Order: sequence, then C-alpha cells, then structure tokens
Amino acid sequence: MSRLVVVSNRVAPVKQPRPGSQGGLAVGILAALRDRGGIWFGWNGNISEQSAQKPSIVSAGRLTYATVDLNQTDYDEYYFGFANRSLWPLFHYRLDLSEFNRRDYEGYRRTNRLFASRLRPLLEPDDLIWVHDYHLIPMAEELRNTGCEQRLGFFLHIPWPTPQVLLALPQHRQIVRAMCTYDVVGFQTESDRKAFCSYILEEAGGLIGDNGLVRAFGRTVKTGVFPIGIDTETVTRFAASAVDSRTTQRLKSSLGGGDLLIGVDRLDYSKGLTQRLEAFEHLLEAYPEHRGHIVMLQIAPPSRSDVPEYQQIQRELEAVAGRVNGRYAEFDWVPTRYLNKGFNRRTLCGFFRTSKVGFVTPLRDGMNLVAKEYVAAQDPKDPGVLVLSRFAGAANELPEALIVNPFDTEGVAEALQHALTMSLEERRERWQAMYDQLCRHDITAWRESFIEVLTRAPYSTRQGLPN
Ligand code: G6P
Repeated sequence: MSRLVVVSNRVAPVKQPRPGSQGGLAVGILAALRDRGGIWFGWNGNISEQSAQKPSIVSAGRLTYATVDLNQTDYDEYYFGFANRSLWPLFHYRLDLSEFNRRDYEGYRRTNRLFASRLRPLLEPDDLIWVHDYHLIPMAEELRNTGCEQRLGFFLHIPWPTPQVLLALPQHRQIVRAMCTYDVVGFQTESDRKAFCSYILEEAGGLIGDNGLVRAFGRTVKTGVFPIGIDTETVTRFAASAVDSRTTQRLKSSLGGGDLLIGVDRLDYSKGLTQRLEAFEHLLEAYPEHRGHIVMLQIAPPSRSDVPEYQQIQRELEAVAGRVNGRYAEFDWVPTRYLNKGFNRRTLCGFFRTSKVGFVTPLRDGMNLVAKEYVAAQDPKDPGVLVLSRFAGAANELPEALIVNPFDTEGVAEALQHALTMSLEERRERWQAMYDQLCRHDITAWRESFIEVLTRAPYSTRQGLPN
C-alpha cells in the first residue's frame, strides 16, 4: 500500500493530545496516516527569522510530522494577505471584504514554492500526496516544477465561487491553472464542482467529460464531490458520557428549566453571527412567551484576530448581543450568552445534547461540521432540532433539518418557533434520517473515497472526454 503524504497549512499538534481536544478532521487524517504510514507536512504556527529553513521532523510510529516555521513577511503575504484577505472572503462571496494586491499573491506563490522544496526530499516514488485547502492551491504546480511525478490530489474545504465572482480575482487564471495540475480535485458539494466546471468551459476554453474529467491548460484532472463527514460514533459516545459531567450539569441547572439554543462557530464574518442574533431577537419580539425562559448560547472563539475584518465583526457582535440583552433581560434572566472562547469537543458534545435547537446559519460555508456534530450528539429518545442555513454545504446531506435563509430574519425566527414547538414524533423522524446519513458517510468514508479515486490516477484524456 502506498504511503500517504498530507499537506495542509495547519498540522495537528504533534504532542499526544488529551481525548476530546482534537477536531474530527485531525482525527480522521491521523487515522489514515497511521493506517498507511506517511507524513503530515505543514506550518507549525511559529513565526521566526527565516521561513521554512529545514522541516522539524518528529516520528510517531509509522507517522512522521514535518513542520516548518514562517518568517514575518511570508506570514503577512501568504497567510494573512492572499489566503485570508483575498481568497477566503472571495470564495465566501464577500467581494466587499476582498483585498487584492500583487505583493500578497507573489508571497503566496513564494511560500508554496518554499513548502514544495522542503517537502520534495522527504518523498518516496510511490507516495500519494493529498493537499488540503485554499492556502496551498499552487502546491501541485510547485511540486511538479521540482520534478515530482507522484499522484497529487487536492481537497477544497471551503466553497468554490461561480465564475462571475472568481473573475474579480486578478490571478483567477493562474489559480484555476494551478488546480488543473492536480490529478484529482475534490469539492464539498456538486454546486462547488459545477462552479469550477463553468469556469473551465466559459473562461478557460476547456472540456468537460464524463465521470468528472476536465481538460484545460493542456492537462486532465478528475473532479469529484467528497462531502466531508465527522467521526459520528465518537461524537455520539462523547455526548452520551458528557451529559452526566459536572460542566453539563452546571449548564443544565443554570437554565432553570428553560430551553437552550446553541451556536458554535469560529468568530468569522462568513458564519452569519450578527444575522443569527437578530433572528433570535426577532423570536423574542414575535413570540413573547419565550421571554424569561429561553437562552441562546453562542460560543465564538476568536479567529484570525490580526485581520481587520475580524476585529470589525467582533465589535459588531458585542453591540448586537449587548442590545438584545439590554432590551429583554430581567434581573433573574439573560437571553443571550455570548462567549469568546473555545471548549473541548467532549464538553461541546454535552452542550449539544442539552440544547433543544442547534442554530447553524452561516451566510456561506463549505460544509459546517458543527451541524453534523449537533445531530450526532442528540439523545435518540428526545432529540433536538437542527436549524440550518441553505448556504452551508451540510444542507445537501441534511434536508430533514429546518432549512433556512439566514438573510431572512423573520423566516429564521419562524423556523426557531417551529423547532421549539415541534412534536416528539416529528423530531425523532427528522433526527433518525439525518443520523443514518451521518453514520453512512462519516470521516472514514470521506477519506477512503478520496484516497480511492487518487490511487487510480493518473486519469488519461481518452477516458470519457470529447476529442
Ligand atoms: C477553516 C479552513 C481551515 C482552517 C480553519 C481555521 O476551517 O477551511 O483550512 O485551518 O478554518 O483557520 P486558521 O486561519 O486559524 O487556520
């Protein structure tokens, strides 16, 4: 069996973590690496004098972590600049927040080149190389330039925008050409894949064949849809055991018998947190019977706080949360609990199980694993209801959630009311359908299906493409 080499901007902590402290994706990738043996390569999160001098290597059984530092300029231009001020907002349809400049693009290319040159000596001829996310789109091109002939796959965790949005990026052509250098590119949803194919047809003069094959820029690439899953069984187990924990019990008793709504998101403008709080405010206004009882717990650990747009959203949220509480709180009840910190997954699972409603309303999201974890954490006998944005990739797989348009404040408030008054029978029916889906398509199924397609690369031009 070929070794697996995973390349991502962030690498899971090398030190053996406490159970429940690691995200589902890290757990899934580590399982694949331990299975096949391999390397996890990426940035170690440190900024030092010089970038990527020599990877620091730590071996744990058949798995090797190879991580590098970044210098301040590369951090500013590659991570802070092009990745998080150009690609992230643009790919989330926030042209108004996107910043473009050539210096950042050059820094992005330079850092990808540097990563490729540091990874190259660690590779073996039969390796499968799996690159993750928007920070590293040019990795395949840079690796091929160093003579690398191994199979190369890429998975995009965030949305891929339609051509009309992508065209605003001055380097749209270079970015799409870089995508076409991989043997396989995977997207979260069929609409993301279609948006990519539309660009190929309309802007690159390429061809689209059967079975997801695409030909453009003189290359053939296999495109596919691989919706990322969660480690369903672990979440279910954590949730069942966490309900009796002291923390969950404290949360429960603090509610005084009232219903809990929960949101858990990185503090990011794509998550629709302001609109979410406004919808909750509207619920209190339109359905006064909830005043004095219901509580909305919004957990929002700060993220990318150096980026000005993230500082702005933090200020905005503080204002809205303050306004809702100022307007409705009583001396013995506060409607919104807004927390700027994170919790470990086991604790969160207990919180999810205690919540009557999982409130997941991003304005745009590649998948959204919180939606899936909320469902997996429910008590089958008395499950809560998921209120889910139609703009989250997860909505494709979980149509039994109450699907909402996060821009429609009144519509979201109505869905909350529906969730809070739903019969046990309807809740069970909806939950069961979603839970079955999460068991069939968990994180293991996700990585195995991608690796399977990558193993069969390269895909030739003769397979299913018009001449
Ligand atoms: C999203 C991205 C990931 C990223 C994560 C945290 O989920 O798809 O690639 O690692 O956000 O963001 P950060 O900038 O802290 O790595």
